[in-house]
Amino acid sequence: MNPIIQNSPKDRIIFALDVEHFHEAQHWVTLLKDRVGILKVGKQLFTHSGPKIIDMISQKGQKVFLDLKYHDIPNTVAKAGEEATKHQVAMFNLHALGGFEMMKKTVEASRAVSKNLNLPKPIILAVTILTSMDGETMKEVGIQGPIVEEVGRLAVLAQKAGIDGVVASPQEIGIIRERCGEEFLIVTPGIRHPSDKKDDQKRTLTPREAIEAGADYLVIGRPIKEAKDPIEAVQKIVEDIS
Ligand code: C5P
Repeated sequence: MNPIIQNSPKDRIIFALDVEHFHEAQHWVTLLKDRVGILKVGKQLFTHSGPKIIDMISQKGQKVFLDLKYHDIPNTVAKAGEEATKHQVAMFNLHALGGFEMMKKTVEASRAVSKNLNLPKPIILAVTILTSMDGETMKEVGIQGPIVEEVGRLAVLAQKAGIDGVVASPQEIGIIRERCGEEFLIVTPGIRHPSDKKDDQKRTLTPREAIEAGADYLVIGRPIKEAKDPIEAVQKIVEDIS
C-alpha cells in the first residue's frame, strides 16, 4: 500500500456526491460525516453550486475530492490546479490525454502554491481512458488500443509527470500496479456487492476484491445513496475491507 495511506478502512471510502442541489449535498455530508474518508464533488454539483460546496464540506471537517477532470492547454490547467490547491481540496484530477507538459506544469504549479501559502499538498490524480469508452469509441478518436495497454501507457506517462496516481476501473488495477509500482495511488469506482444493483457499471468488484487487487481508495455512490439504510450500507463496506 502507498505510504501516503496510513488510514483506517473508512478513510479509503470516497463517497460520490452525485446530487444536483446544495441542500441535498449538505444532507449527505451531515449524514456521512466521519463515516467515510472523502466526499467527491463532480461537474454537476460544482457547476450548480460553485466553490461554496467545497467550503461547506470543509467546514464540516470533511475532505474533498474535486472531480472536474481538467483537460486544456497546460497553462490553463495549471492555473485551475492552483485554484483547487488554494481551496485546500484533498484530491483533484485531470486527463492524462492532455499530455505530459499539461500534467507536469499542473503538478509544479500546485506544489508551488502549497509551499508559498503553506497549504497542504493535494493528491493529484489522472484519468487515463474513460471507462465509458470501448474499442469502437477509442478508434473514433484515433486511439488504437487495446484499452488496458493504453491505460498502462498513460499511467506511466502520468507518473513520469509527477502525478500521484490514477482513477482506474477494477480491470485496470493489475497493469497499473505492474507498471507503476506500489507507491502509485489507484482510486477505483465500479464497486458493488453481489446483492447490489449494477446500474450502468459493467465490470464491478466487491469492496474487498478491489482492495485485494491493489486499489488504495474506492469511489462509491449509488450503493450507499440508494440503500434503504445508507449508514448500514457504509458499515457493510467498512467491514468488508477491514
Ligand atoms: O454510483 P456509483 O458507485 O456507480 O458511482 C461511481 C462514481 O464514480 C460516479 O461519480 C462516477 O462519475 C465515477 N466514475 C466512474 N467511472 C469512472 C470514473 C468515475 O463511475 N471511470
